[in-house]
Amino acid sequence: MNILTIDDDREILDFFHHLFHQKGHQLYFAHDKSSTEKAIKHTSLEIAFIDLKLPDVSGLQLLKKVKQAHPACKVVMMTGYSTVQTAVEAIKLGAEDYIEKPFEDITLIEKVIQPENDEQDIDSYIQLAKNSGLIVGKSQRMKEVVRIASKFATKNLNILIDGETGTGKEVMARYIHEASSKHKNEGPFLALNCGAVAEQILESELFGHETGAFTGAVKTRKGYFELASNGTLLLDEIGEASMPIQVKLLRVLESREFMRVGGEKTLRTGARILAATNRDLRKEVEKNRFREDLLFRLEAVTITIPPLRERKEDLLEISYFILNKEGFSHLTLSEEALELLYEHDWPGNIRELTNVLVRGAAELEENINVILPSHLYIPLNVSIVKDQNNFVERENSGPISAQWKAEILKRIDRGNSLNLSHVMEDMKKAELQVSREIAKKALHSANGSQKEAAEKLGVTPRKLRYILNEKM
Ligand SMILES: Nc1ncnc2c1ncn2[C@@H]1O[C@H](COP(=O)(O)OP(=O)(O)OP(=O)(O)O)[C@@H](O)[C@H]1O
Ligand SMILES: [Mg+2]
Repeated sequence: MNILTIDDDREILDFFHHLFHQKGHQLYFAHDKSSTEKAIKHTSLEIAFIDLKLPDVSGLQLLKKVKQAHPACKVVMMTGYSTVQTAVEAIKLGAEDYIEKPFEDITLIEKVIQPENDEQDIDSYIQLAKNSGLIVGKSQRMKEVVRIASKFATKNLNILIDGETGTGKEVMARYIHEASSKHKNEGPFLALNCGAVAEQILESELFGHETGAFTGAVKTRKGYFELASNGTLLLDEIGEASMPIQVKLLRVLESREFMRVGGEKTLRTGARILAATNRDLRKEVEKNRFREDLLFRLEAVTITIPPLRERKEDLLEISYFILNKEGFSHLTLSEEALELLYEHDWPGNIRELTNVLVRGAAELEENINVILPSHLYIPLNVSIVKDQNNFVERENSGPISAQWKAEILKRIDRGNSLNLSHVMEDMKKAELQVSREIAKKALHSANGSQKEAAEKLGVTPRKLRYILNEKM
C-alpha cells in the first residue's frame, strides 16, 4: 500500500517507517506544505496520516488537498490532546478518523491499514443503524449525519444530538450506543427525560437516593448515572433541565463523581453521556436559561438531524419501515398516496408520519391491501412557528384560514376524499395553539399574574387557565 505521513516531527516519521516498512508498504513522507504538494502530485495514495499542526499550513488544509488529488485516499489525522474540536472538523471534511498523540495503542494505527477495516464503511453503518431502528434512506444529508455519528460512536466523547421534534434523536442515540458497543462490550442504554418530572424526583432519578433521604425514600435506589455506568446515558430534553439540575449535571460531567441523594459516599460513573434537545441551546445560553459551561461539556460533538421535509427522498423507505414495524407489512402505498406524503411538510417529522400511516392502515377495509389517498389524513400544511419573542407568526404570510381553505379545495379538486370532522379537529387545535401563545405572551408581560393577563386580554382568569392548560 502507498502510505503518506505528514508531520514536522522527525520522530513520528521514523516511527511510521519502522512500523510499516518491513511489512512491504511503500512509504512517503512530507513535513510541510511544499513537500506535501510534491508528494501528492506523483504518487497514487491509499492512506495518509496528517498531523493537525504544521509550521506553515494547517492539517485541515492538507486534508483538503489530499482528498482533492486522491478522493479515495483514507486520511487519518494525528492530534494533540487539546485539539478534539479540530479533529471533529476534520471528520466533517472527510477524514476517516483521528488518533491522539502520543500514540498509546499502536494497534489503532495498524488497524487503519487493514482491509477488513473497510467493513466499517458506510454500508455497514447503514445496516447497523437499520437494525437499531434508524432508517438512513437515500439522502446525502442523512448519510453524512450517520457517517459522522458512526465515527464518534466509538470515541469517548459526549455527543449532543439536536433536531426538530420527531426527527429521531432518540433512535439516533440508541444507534450510537449500538455502534459503540460493537467495539466494547458495554452495559445498557438508558434514557431520562430531563423535562418531564419535578426537580427532586429528577435528582433522585439521576443520582439515586439512600433510605430516608426524603419522605417516601423507603429503600436505597440506584440512579441512572450508576445504572448506566458501563453503558450509555441519554439526557433527553436537556434544554428543559432546571438551573439547579444543570449545576449538578455539570459537576458530574466534570468530575465523573456524584453522590446519591442523602448519601455520603462519592460514586464514580463510567457512563457514556449523550444529550438530546429540540431547542437551540446557543440561544438558550444567550437568554441565560442554559449554562454555557454545561453546553461546552455536552457538545464535544454536535449531531444535527435534518427535518423530514429536507430529506423527502427518504420518505418511501421510512414509510415502509414504519408499516412493517407497526404490523402492517402486507400493505403497500398507492402512487397517489405516496404523492400526498411527498407534498406534506411534516412539521412533526417522522413521529407525525408514523401517526398518519398507522391511522391510515387502521382505517383500511378488510381484504384491501393498498393504502389510498382516501385512507390518509394528513394534517394541513400550515405550520405555526414561534419567533424569537415566543410569539406566533406564520411561516408564510397571509391568514391561516385562507391558506387552509385553498389547500382543502385543492385536495377536493384532485379527487381526494376528505373527512370534514378531521379538518374541524385541526382547526380547533390551531385556534387553541394561537390562543395559548397569546395567553403565554400576556402572562409573561404581566410577570406571571394571571389576573392581570386575563384583564388585558378581556377574558376571565378561569378562561385564561383553561386556554393555558387545555390538552391538544
Ligand atoms: N430514521 C428513522 N427511521 C425510522 N424510524 C424513525 C427514524 N427517526 C425517527 N423514527 C421514529 O419516529 C418516532 C420519533 O422518533 P424519536 O422519538 O427518536 O424522535 P425525537 O427526535 O426524540 O423527538 P422529540 O424531540 O419529540 O423527543 C419514533 O417512533 C421513531 O422510532
Ligand atoms: Mg425524543
